[in-house]
Amino acid sequence: MKFFLDTANLDELRAVLPWGIVDGVTTNPSLIAKEGVPLEEQIRRICDIIDGDVSATVISTEAKEMIREGRKLAGLHKNVVVKLPLTRDGIEACSSLSDDGIRINVTLCFSAAQALLAAKAGAYLVSPFAGRLDDIGIDGMNLIRDIVAIYRNFSFPTQVLAASLRSPLQVVEAAKAGAHIGTLPFKLMDSLFNHPLTDRGLEQFLADYNKVFQETAVSR
Ligand code: E4P
Repeated sequence: MKFFLDTANLDELRAVLPWGIVDGVTTNPSLIAKEGVPLEEQIRRICDIIDGDVSATVISTEAKEMIREGRKLAGLHKNVVVKLPLTRDGIEACSSLSDDGIRINVTLCFSAAQALLAAKAGAYLVSPFAGRLDDIGIDGMNLIRDIVAIYRNFSFPTQVLAASLRSPLQVVEAAKAGAHIGTLPFKLMDSLFNHPLTDRGLEQFLADYNKVFQETAVSR
C-alpha cells in the first residue's frame, strides 16, 4: 500500500519525508487555499520537494475548460496527476486526457457506480472519500471494499486511493480491503506511530541497560 500525504503545506511535507514512507501528495482546492499561494505555484513547490505523484485539482467545471486546465497542470511537472471531480464533465475530461496519456485522479467519488465510470473513462486513480460518508452515517469502508472487488472482477488498472481517512483504524481497514493507496493528513500519519506499549517497552529497555552500564561507568 502506498501512502500519500493529504496536504498542500510544505512544512508538513518536509516533516514526514525523512521517515521514508511517503510515496506522493494529494491536494485539493481547500488545502491549496489554506496556504494562500496560487495553485500552480504551490504545486511546483510541492513537486520540487517530493519525487512522487502529486495530485492537483482543476478549478474549472466545464469539460473543455477542464481539459485545457488539465493539460496545463500536467505540463507543470512529470509527477503531476490531474484531479477531476466525478461529474459528467469531469468524466468527459478524464476520457479525453487519459487518451492523451495524462494521468487522472477522479475525486469526490461516493458510490461504486461512480467508481465504475471513473475506471471506464481510463482514470489512473479513483478517490472514494470514506470519512465524508461516515460523517453522514454511511459505512465509507464498505465503499472501498466494493470498489476494490469490482475493479478486480474486471482487471481494471485504475488504482483505488482511499481518501478522507480520519483514524488509524480506517487506514488499517483500507489496507485490509486492498486499497492501493491511502492518503493521510499529517496528524493521522503521525498518529500511526503511537502505541503505549512501545513507549513503555523502550523506557524499560533503557532503564535496564543504564542500571548496569551507567553504574559500572561511574564506579570505575
Ligand atoms: C483527497 O484527495 C482529499 O483531499 C481528502 O482526502 C479529503 O479529506 P477530508 O474529507 O478530510 O477533507
